[in-house]
Formats: sequence, C-alpha cells, structure tokens
Amino acid sequence: MKARFFLNPTSWHENAPPPTRAPLAFHRRLPGYRSTPLIDAPELARTLGIGQVLVKDESSRLGLPAFKILGASWAVYRLLEKRAAESEGRAFARPGLAAASPSGIFEPWSTVEELAAGLASLQPLTLTTATDGNHGRAVAHVAALFGFAARIFVPAGTAQARIDGIASEGAFVEVVAGTYDDAVERAAREANERCLVVSDTSWPGYEEIPRWVMEGYSTILWEIEDELARRGEKDPDIFPIPFGVGALAAAVVRHYGPLGPNERPKILGVEPLQAACLLASMEAGEIVTVPGPHDSIMAGLNCGQPSLIAWPIVSQGIDACIAIPDERAREAMRALARVGVVAGETGAAGLAGLIELLTGAENARHRAALGIGTNSRALILVTEGATDPESYQRIVSG
Ligand SMILES: Cc1ncc(COP(=O)(O)O)c(C=O)c1O
Repeated sequence: MKARFFLNPTSWHENAPPPTRAPLAFHRRLPGYRSTPLIDAPELARTLGIGQVLVKDESSRLGLPAFKILGASWAVYRLLEKRAAESEGRAFARPGLAAASPSGIFEPWSTVEELAAGLASLQPLTLTTATDGNHGRAVAHVAALFGFAARIFVPAGTAQARIDGIASEGAFVEVVAGTYDDAVERAAREANERCLVVSDTSWPGYEEIPRWVMEGYSTILWEIEDELARRGEKDPDIFPIPFGVGALAAAVVRHYGPLGPNERPKILGVEPLQAACLLASMEAGEIVTVPGPHDSIMAGLNCGQPSLIAWPIVSQGIDACIAIPDERAREAMRALARVGVVAGETGAAGLAGLIELLTGAENARHRAALGIGTNSRALILVTEGATDPESYQRIVSG
C-alpha cells in the first residue's frame, strides 16, 4: 500500500492561554516519577538526511510501558477533585491550572498513600474505559494506586499480551466483539453513580475528562522544553506524532501554539493506512469516520474517528499528516533498536512517519512542503515500549 500525505493549508494562530505546569507538578509526586530520557541519535539523522534526531523515550513511564499514564492519572485526579468538591457542596475551581503551585481539594499531600487516604470517603468506585491497550492499562494502574476497581473494554483482536498487561493491574478485562469505536460505546454505557468513565476520546456531552487526559500529556512537553533549555538547544524543527484519536497530537499543538506559526516546530500527524481518520477528516474538512477493519500492527492507532475535542485543535494546528503502511513501523522499530531504544509497533510510529516523509517516493515534495533541509532537527516521541514482547522479538530479529 502506498503512503498518503496531506498538507494543511490553514495558517493558524493560537488564542487560548498557554498550558500550565500543574500536571507536571502532580506527576512529580507519583511513585517512580523521573523525566524520561532524551537521546541524541546521530546515525538516524544521517540516514534521514537531516541535522539531528532526538528521541524522547516513553517506553518506561511511571512504572508502565507507555506514556498514557500521564493523561489517565491527571484526568482521574481532576475527576475525583470535582466529585469531592460536589459532595461537600464546594465550588469546583480549576486549581493549579492557573496557579504556580497546586491548590486542589486534596492538598496538601506529598505521597500517593497520603492522597489515597484522602480519597477513602469516595469509595466504593470503579473506573472504566475502552482501550487498544495502553490507556486501559493506565486507567487500571491508577485505579489500583488510588484503591478503586477497574473494568476495561478492549476490541476484538487485541493481542493477548496487552490483555494480560491490563489484567496484571488487577482490572477486569472484557473483549468487545467489534472495533475500538464499538468498545468506546460499550464502556460509555457503564457510567453510573459508582462507575466513572475515564475515556481518552470524547463525544457530544463527554468532553471534560478527555480534556484533562490531554492536559496530562503536557508533562512530556515541559520535560522536553526543560531538557533542551538545560542543553542550550532550540525547539526542534519537525515533530511527528502518532495519531490515534488525536489527544496526544492536540497536546503538542497546544503546547507549541503560543510560539506562533513561524517559530513552532512543524507538527506531523502519523497514522496507519488502515485507520487514517485524521487524513480522511482533513481532506473532508470535518470529522469523518473511516470504516474498519482497523487491523494495523500499530494497535494504539487503530481508531476510526478523531476525538471531538482534539479535532478543532489538530485540524487548525497540525501542519501535515501522513498515513503509512505497517512495514514502515517495522523498519522504525529496527532502527530504534539499533540506537538502543525499545519501541513497540505504535511507539515507533513517529519515526516510521518521518522515514516515509524523508525517504519515501515523494520525499522531495514533502521536504519542500514542510521546509525541511539538511540542518533540520527532528524530535521523535517513542510512545511505548514492547507491549507485545513476542511480536517485538519477531519484528526486531527479522
Ligand atoms: C503508544 C501510543 N502512542 C500513541 C497513541 C495515540 O494517542 P492518541 O489516541 O491520543 O492520538 C496511543 C493511543 O492509544 C498509544 O497507545
């Protein structure tokens, strides 16, 4: 299958207030927090014909093999703050988001044990969501940390290793006959007074929680910014982002938006050809649902529709998108293994998109369209490690 490329003609200016560091301040108090590595990969840069490739490695984040815990933990925290405020008849402000230091309803706390003790009055609670693997495991992990139950819905065809990973967090896992989008609908039906839906995608009437998920991802971007400042380096010129429902891409667009169109990195959405919902929506100028089967090996990107809240942000703020065949993901996994980074199929998608962009049949057109030259600097976000270890071994050793 041939890759597809779409260049966004929209020239965009960010009017929203810049994101704050409140999620980062929260994550720093979770067990095992550390800023994930930012690795220089000169051999990759040479292969791609650009000046520098930096790899931000999310294969181990807060005890899980993917970045998704950043969104899930912040969203659950905010949701519980709101619930506690409502049950006490207090106003639910947006603590921390505008302030430099956290000022939420559970403050002060400095360890997750102290926080969990403060949550006791909210029991019993179950957290639920649909997932292609990583978000569901993250929600299950947060439920266990905070002392709640978890019920996670996965689409048919989800790799057993990913189901086992979710179950290992103590969650009940149910396979839904259908696609990821069917699993989303199934999870939404679970909502009740004692069962909270913590979805990373949004739909009409369900927007607040996915917005917090998106905010939670900002921690990655602050870490990158702080590390580059420490090294005395500038922001990258191009930032390819694996695109599933678009929450991660929207977080990146929001982060760099205040810099303005000439200063911010070029942001490239990367999707599998089998589930190119961003590309189809960009071409149509509105949210489009692409029919299944969504059977890419980039399992986290097997989504048929962009998130409702991500769409206005990415449709204006993303510079281009590219839909790629699975073979590019395998190639990227091997290339990352050679520089010592363990990237699962979805985790390697950012590099896979960049390989297609810069070395594929249309590379000259792509380079010209995005102003990429031999000195350009790319930032690759490896969003997951080997979440299906057998498949990882097969691909990397092949
Ligand atoms: C490892 C990984 N990377 C990237 C993504 C894409 O994130 P989003 O769905 O917010 O676009 C996902 C989504 O599940 C994922 O699991």
